[in-house]
Amino acid sequence: MATCKCCGCGQQDDRYDKLNQLIDKYKEKKGALIPVLHGAQELFGYLPEDVLETIARKLQVPLAEVYGVATFYSFFNLKPKGKHLIGVSLGTACYVRGAQDVVDELKKQLNIDVNETTEDGNFTLALTRCVGACGLAPVMTIDDDVYGRVTPEKVKDILKKYQ
Ligand code: FES
Repeated sequence: MATCKCCGCGQQDDRYDKLNQLIDKYKEKKGALIPVLHGAQELFGYLPEDVLETIARKLQVPLAEVYGVATFYSFFNLKPKGKHLIGVSLGTACYVRGAQDVVDELKKQLNIDVNETTEDGNFTLALTRCVGACGLAPVMTIDDDVYGRVTPEKVKDILKKYQ
């Protein structure tokens, strides 16, 4: 069994064994790359570099092609996601009511850009489409919680609940 490579904790990590089983299962099939990437992301939560290298080597696909597919589809993540996922709707109603100011405040408070994760791994910031709560625009979500009529002044207090 391999040792955890994510955080250096030295614990046994059976995800690499599972990854190898997954690759073996699809190896002989046509179009194996996408289902293998899907399965790998389910196992690891994202697609670390060494996982992409393993997939390329075992499927005998050039690494550039593996990266190409992993970066082309938005549902693949090459970076780990934070514990809490923040989404700000940039649908029309939210946009005209100041969603961009909320995004700018979040970036400032968290010291990250959109699609990045804070250094402590607590938050990932993403932009979303309309989440169907336009009457509450601008809308921000954290995990399954929805916050309406968000202003930059409210951002700090909302974040505190998740720290
Ligand atoms: S536009 Fe933001 S919730 Fe609909």
